Parts: sequence; structure tokens; C-alpha cells
Amino acid sequence: MSRPVSIHKLQAMRENGEKITVVTAYDATFGRLASDADIEVILVGDSLGMVLQGHDSTLPVSISDMAYHTAAVSNGASTPFIVTDMPFMSYHSEAQAMDNAASLMQAGAHCVKLEGGQWLCPTIAKLVERGVPVCAHLGLTPQSVNQLGGFKVQGRLPEQAAAMLADAKAVEAAGACLLVLECIPSALAKLITDSISIPTIGIGAGADTSGQVLVMHDLLGLNPRPARFVKNFMHESDSLLGAFCAYREAVRAKTFPASEHESA
Ligand code: KIV
Repeated sequence: MSRPVSIHKLQAMRENGEKITVVTAYDATFGRLASDADIEVILVGDSLGMVLQGHDSTLPVSISDMAYHTAAVSNGASTPFIVTDMPFMSYHSEAQAMDNAASLMQAGAHCVKLEGGQWLCPTIAKLVERGVPVCAHLGLTPQSVNQLGGFKVQGRLPEQAAAMLADAKAVEAAGACLLVLECIPSALAKLITDSISIPTIGIGAGADTSGQVLVMHDLLGLNPRPARFVKNFMHESDSLLGAFCAYREAVRAKTFPASEHESA
């Protein structure tokens, strides 16, 4: 059996130019499938508020929802590194972030993901100091959908791009071990990836990030209105495991994402 994936392995993959595959999963069965497909990272995303619970945003998701689904994934997944989203308003103070991160780590997460840039750095530093690996998330940050005015591409204007680059450097300096870049121009994702040392994981951010993440329901063709950056891997497979493997292969071979999957 393969060894569990660690933050050191992910960092080494970035340094060796090997692409990292990330998929969301929310239960033991799909956690096992991701594990069987040799996918490096499972994201227990707060996207579960939309794809499992049927809400139109991630805002209603609670910390107990995230702990419940993390425990289920952890029971099924043996090797992937498990990153769990801290949901909306669960990290608005450092003390609250500590308590909520503790419950997710105790449920089986190996790392927690938080949306935000420089304002979040003291919280990131405190979590890392206390032994909690942190994945940061910039670009389209779905918990801020009301502030952003919708699920839109971010970082198109030069001043927005400069601010995002500064945020990326700040979260790395604060101790984040991974950075998700969502729905940003591919040139900006490349600039950020080239400007920091930790792995970047893109979604709708082009081909030049250190890895890719897709929401499971999107890659399995279960989304009736898929975004431009999504690919349905069931089209080239006759099983769920086959679709997970096809996605992993396409990321490793750098055939996904192709230019038609870019946000801008
Ligand atoms: O919640 C989620 O699934 C995510 C990904 C879209 C990156 O944050």
C-alpha cells in the first residue's frame, strides 16, 4: 500500500515539477475512490453546501457539517492528504479559528483551508505555530460572493492582480503550505506560482499552477450548468473510479486544463 501523502511530499512534487491532483469528496465511499485513484489531496470543500445541501452559496455551511463530512472522508481515504474548508465566519477571530480548526483536525483533517489574504496572516501564523497546516485561498473566494457581486473571474485589473500577488506572498510568509487560486487569469496564476515557493492549486486558473482541483460533481458530469473551466471525465470512462483516474492522468500529463478551460 502507498504511504500517506504529507505536506513534504506535496512540496517535493512542486519542486520536481510533478503536478498535484486534488478532488473534493464528502463521504467515505468517494474518499476511498480518490484514494484508490492515487489522487494526492482530497478537499472536503464547503462546496458541499451547494452540491450536497442544495443551497445557492456556501454561506449556510456550519463547522459541525464540515467535521461530520471530514470524519466520513477520513474513514474511507487511506493515503490522500485531507484538506478541510473552514466555513463562513468560523475564523473571524483568532480564538474562534483555533477552536474550530481543532474540531476539524480531530475529525480527521490534515490541513484547514481559509479564504483571504493579508488580513488573515496573523490567524494563519497562529494556526501553523500550534501545529495546524493551512491552505490559503485567493481569487474567487466563494464565502465573499455577496461582496464580490457574484461568482466572477477575479484579478483582471492590474491593481487587483498586484494586490493578489501581494496577498499570495503574505500568506506564504505567514506559513501557509498550499494556496488555492480560483477563477483568475492564467497569466496571473503563473506569475503568482513563479513568485512563491509553496504549491499553488488552480481551479479555473490555467495550466501553470502546481496542481489542479475540481469539485467531484463537476468532473463526474453531475452539474447541469458546468463552468467553462470544468471537464466531464465520465465521457472517457465507464466507471466512477475510471473517471477519477482519467482526471488524475490528465492533470499529471498536463492535458487538463487545456486552453478552452481557461477563465480569461
Ligand atoms: O469548497 C470547495 O470545493 C472549494 C474548491 C472549489 C476550491 O473551495
